[in-house]
Amino acid sequence: MTVTETELAEHFEATVARGDRIEPRDWMPEAYRKTLIRQIAQHAHSEIIGMQPEGNWISRAPSLRRKAILLAKVQDEAGHGLYLYSACETLGTARRELTEKLLSGKQKYSSIFNYPTPSYADVGTIGWLVDGAAICNQVPLCRTSFGPYGRAMIRICKEESFHQRQGYELLMTMMRGTEEQRAMVQESVDRFWWPALMMFGPPDDASPHTGQSMAWGIKRNTNDELRQKFVDMTVPQARALGVTLPDPELRWNSERRAHDFGEPDWDEFWAVVEGNGPCNAERLDRRRRAHEDGAWVRDAAVAFAEEGAR
Ligand SMILES: [Fe+2]
Ligand SMILES: [Fe+2]
Repeated sequence: MTVTETELAEHFEATVARGDRIEPRDWMPEAYRKTLIRQIAQHAHSEIIGMQPEGNWISRAPSLRRKAILLAKVQDEAGHGLYLYSACETLGTARRELTEKLLSGKQKYSSIFNYPTPSYADVGTIGWLVDGAAICNQVPLCRTSFGPYGRAMIRICKEESFHQRQGYELLMTMMRGTEEQRAMVQESVDRFWWPALMMFGPPDDASPHTGQSMAWGIKRNTNDELRQKFVDMTVPQARALGVTLPDPELRWNSERRAHDFGEPDWDEFWAVVEGNGPCNAERLDRRRRAHEDGAWVRDAAVAFAEEGAR
């Protein structure tokens, strides 16, 4: 008895509807596979490019303790990239292809990493706001319908919560310090607040893939839902820190039982996505150079594997 395409599709739909996982060997619609490859690759690239803005501070961290913490955090991001490239490979695409698409600009990474980190307080702000926004985005992905992606996300989320706390702890320490240190924190929060809100992607009505991705269980919440959750979570933390979030429209709405807040500058968002952010060229250049510098390691690994196979 042969199984028809329709029966396979029905089985797929039923699996997703039950909340069960789709595994690499299962039949899946081609569009589901493509969407997942795009999403997981973009996520993997973000982890790898995301090492740069803070990596910038490793050699200049103010103490051995801060250096050890930052080094561990940046290494974690390399690990996240590795888990995600591996998850993506189970969909039948090679890591080499993904890297080529990143370097040629065919695949994107999160726009947040195209902003500069001129101040040491940025290490704290990135941990607090950027890793915090990443957690809001990623916790629901632990339940995503594709097995390898969901399982990678469980471990990633545990590590992201360490990142968020180390950032918050660093800012708290600076806020208890001198007037100058407090000003450094505020200045950094002023720069990162809006780009952090943009990390959830465009508003729902300008997000063409959201509906299909939610139907497939790839996405669990809309961009606007997650953005709202992030704002509601962050406001009390900002108060505890003693920093001001740079949004004059930000206030509690007792009817909605949520915060109202202003609109990010979507023109700026699209400009950064299109490659015209403050650091796009620099980040890709550096990634390209690192890739070229690592060529001998890849060649040696291939030669070693061939030697072993003989
Ligand atoms: Fe990460
Ligand atoms: Fe992180």
